[in-house]
Amino acid sequence: MSAPESRFVKACMTQPVDRTPVWFMRQAGRYMAEYRAIRKQYSLIEICKRPEVAAEVTITAAEILGVDAAIIFADLLLPLEVMGLPFHFSAGEGPVIEKPVRTQEDVTRLRTDRAADLGYVSEAVRLVSRHFGSGLPVIGFCGAPFTLASYMIEGGGSRNYIHTKKLMYSSPAMWNQLLSKLVAVTSVYAAEQVSAGADVIQIFDSWVGCLSVEDYRRSVLPHTTKLVKALKKTGAPVIYFGTDSATLLPSMQGTGAEVIGLDWRIPLDEGWRSLGNKGAVQGNLDPVLLFADWPELKSRAANILQRAGGRAGHIFNLGHGILPETPVENVKALARFVQEHSARTTL
Ligand code: CP3
Repeated sequence: MSAPESRFVKACMTQPVDRTPVWFMRQAGRYMAEYRAIRKQYSLIEICKRPEVAAEVTITAAEILGVDAAIIFADLLLPLEVMGLPFHFSAGEGPVIEKPVRTQEDVTRLRTDRAADLGYVSEAVRLVSRHFGSGLPVIGFCGAPFTLASYMIEGGGSRNYIHTKKLMYSSPAMWNQLLSKLVAVTSVYAAEQVSAGADVIQIFDSWVGCLSVEDYRRSVLPHTTKLVKALKKTGAPVIYFGTDSATLLPSMQGTGAEVIGLDWRIPLDEGWRSLGNKGAVQGNLDPVLLFADWPELKSRAANILQRAGGRAGHIFNLGHGILPETPVENVKALARFVQEHSARTTL
């Protein structure tokens, strides 16, 4: 950890801070001209695999926006490659996994001994931490076992998760083996990021909201809990983020993560209440509000801060990542507004 005294890290630990920290999921991305310029030279995967370029992308986005944390530039799916599942990004289609996991043989073949080959990500973390020192905390991240398994099994994004759920319902032994393998790899991978200087780890469970509470508790929670437990040993706080997850929040809290991500579908105070007002929450502005006029955007952001009520343990963010066409000026203005509007005169 390089910035343990920062307001972002303190807020993750539900400690009082001078103002609400703010950062944005996908803060480095196509909506930003500087990122588009780099993408003209390198593919997404090339950026990820060149630590000096990934570090530059991470640093540039955080500095342009003036946010309170920098998230390392990487992709959720990188661990698939070291497990023996090659993938590529096809224009307009998103990620494509060449040979999806469907059979027992496919699961047996997955390797768990090569997490160290993702060292390029921790190298990028090291460069970013060195750049910011104690001035700005760095967020490392990894995918949650369910969301990663869904990409492996579907072969890409999905609407109904039919192959994923079919495997989960019909072949529980295979399912558990697959998720255990994912936890084995991601726990080493994320711990490496902390060793390299990451202050906090965010676990992205972007698609977990397609599950019922019962299925989540039975088939997913034990694995995610193992991952969170392993990460706790690093000493870095964990943010556990999902979308469409209003009904799952109390179960997600059961993983032991210090911070729970809230999407925009539930009012922030209601989400926090369903967590027993315990621990910290991150969120939760609809990313599409960044396309609205400033007065509307500002009043919605103010509403979220009002719902948080200045209580310790709120990190301002969107309910999901910044979309490609988002006007950069609105993102900058939003960060500044949150910082100014949440300033507290007394702690
Ligand atoms: O937040 C950040 O600034 C860090 C960078 C980051 C990327 N991917 C870079 C990226 C992060 C945190 C991710 C995580 C990720 N990757 C998730 C979980 C986050 C979420 O939104 O819930 C998922 C599901 C993926 C897999 C993935 N990668 C998808 C579905 C896509 C979109 C494909 C498309 O064409 O839009 C990507 C591509 C990707 N990863 C981009 C970026 C900036 C798109 C830009 C590009 O192609 O250069």
